[in-house]
Amino acid sequence: MRFISLFVAALISVASALPALHAQSGGSPIITYDSRFHPVLARKGMVVSQDFYASEAGLEVLKLGGNAIDAAVATGFALAVTHPQAGNLGGGGFMMVYLKSEDRVIAIDYREMAPAGASRDMFLDDAGNVDNRRARFSLKASGTPGTVMGLTQALSKYGSLPLATVMGPAIRLADEGFPMSWALQASLSRYQQRLGGDPVTKAQFFKEDGTPYQQGELFRQPELAATLKAIAANGADGFYRGWVADRIVETMQKDGGLITHDDLQNYVVKEREPLRGTYRNFEVVTMPPPSSGGVHVIQMLNVLEGWDMKSLGHNSANYIHRLTESMKYAYADRSKYLGDPDYFDVPVAAITDKAYAANIRGRINLERATPSTEIAPAPKLPYESNDTTHFSTMDAAGNMVANTYTLNFTYGNGRVVAGAGFLLNNEMDDFSAKPGTPNAFGLLGGEANAIEPGKRPLSSMTPTFLFKDGKPYMAAGGPGGSTIITSVFQTILNAMEFDMSVATATARPRIHHQWFPDRLILEPGHSVDTRLRLAEMGHSVSGLASFNEGERVLGATMSIILRPDGLISGMADYRRPGAHAAAY
Ligand code: DON
Repeated sequence: MRFISLFVAALISVASALPALHAQSGGSPIITYDSRFHPVLARKGMVVSQDFYASEAGLEVLKLGGNAIDAAVATGFALAVTHPQAGNLGGGGFMMVYLKSEDRVIAIDYREMAPAGASRDMFLDDAGNVDNRRARFSLKASGTPGTVMGLTQALSKYGSLPLATVMGPAIRLADEGFPMSWALQASLSRYQQRLGGDPVTKAQFFKEDGTPYQQGELFRQPELAATLKAIAANGADGFYRGWVADRIVETMQKDGGLITHDDLQNYVVKEREPLRGTYRNFEVVTMPPPSSGGVHVIQMLNVLEGWDMKSLGHNSANYIHRLTESMKYAYADRSKYLGDPDYFDVPVAAITDKAYAANIRGRINLERATPSTEIAPAPKLPYESNDTTHFSTMDAAGNMVANTYTLNFTYGNGRVVAGAGFLLNNEMDDFSAKPGTPNAFGLLGGEANAIEPGKRPLSSMTPTFLFKDGKPYMAAGGPGGSTIITSVFQTILNAMEFDMSVATATARPRIHHQWFPDRLILEPGHSVDTRLRLAEMGHSVSGLASFNEGERVLGATMSIILRPDGLISGMADYRRPGAHAAAY
């Protein structure tokens, strides 16, 4: 009680001092957007990731003279060791690379591919219902991993240091071990039951007696170290051929998995044309399909651009209403039109068309929420002329990387490859196993995202760059399943519309709506008044009945902004524990 009154007294004294400070500063407001949240600032380079050791691994490589791509690859391999919830060798992802010297952006797609033995109805039971256990926790849930090919190819084409050098920190962390972080020990304890179900996985992540490591205890992964060394010595062949490939196929064959040697050898990384949109004086350069994230971020920004968002006030009820309604239309279109562009003709240009956005804007009632049941994917488009992880890097030359990769669920399907020490993904659940039946993230889909051999499941991962007046400005991205798209959207919108620092743009409370379920999720930090006003407007606001229900965070963005004064500013989102911006 005494502490509380002291705290209140302190607040009052600060508040009463404000007018004087205001006068001293020549009339400009003292409390700016930036005054409560501070980014890490640096001159030479920065790595922002979900894990301390991984960010430091990237920094180590920057200090050796590596560029942003070298640092990203080092971070990617290190996360596979220190953040096994989502850092991976057995998953896939997307990497956006900006090469300053060529002023060029490359979008690298290293998403998993459905094995040749996959088929459209493979997750349906005899009654024709989706068997979620098979789609999420069996070896059939694993697509052919893309991460090792993605990281090694990015390095050889755009990096500057040898693979063995860049992988050095990851190998050391696996071989010699590292003191167990609080974040990882808490996560492993939480998932103990699921991970303990498979003896190989249990042996990888728990002590010999089956108990979790405590914070600070040395955690070694010798089998993973051997796999990393094979990759360092032989490049991607060290994973897709040779003994590691043998171990993957053995694991598959033991328990009904589909991945074969042919699938591994046929895995390909695709460099795709980045998707470009504009928002006022910014250019948004982002990941094209099979990510749905970029398409819908641009679509939603196009809708908002026709309104004066700034004057509504950040996160006011009217502001949130416009964001929410735009989200509903975007996720409705996602369910019908988005899939692997190599298998389905995704109408990207139509969905990201400014005139189409104006049409959506015209349908939005500014006073009332439109129920999701009254919103459908556009019947005809205009004619066309828990764990993932993101990291961003930037170097002194102005190169930058935004990389999001994943095993899908936290720890993927929970199955470690025997003898090779890494977890497998359950990305096959990102396909639409049956039209109209939502996947684990509640997302709906159909024909565009049906399972086919060799196809890549639709993703929400949204690594994104902003360019301001033609100059590189921001690298952003984050995890969160279906909420990735909306959390990246709001982080970059904050930076563009309100000129917030990277710290404030990251920290501000977020919202999420994905069309179905028809529910508006508000993070903690929105006022009760705002919640009530939104409910009055007809939104079904999560957390209104019970505040606990609303105590849910949306994403965890790891972003960097290159400020006009030349300083690199970064923010590791505090929404999930353990995140770290390493800089020098
Ligand atoms: O690619 C996707 O959209 C999903 N596999 C991402 C999963 C995810 O973000 C889980 N956790 N936060």
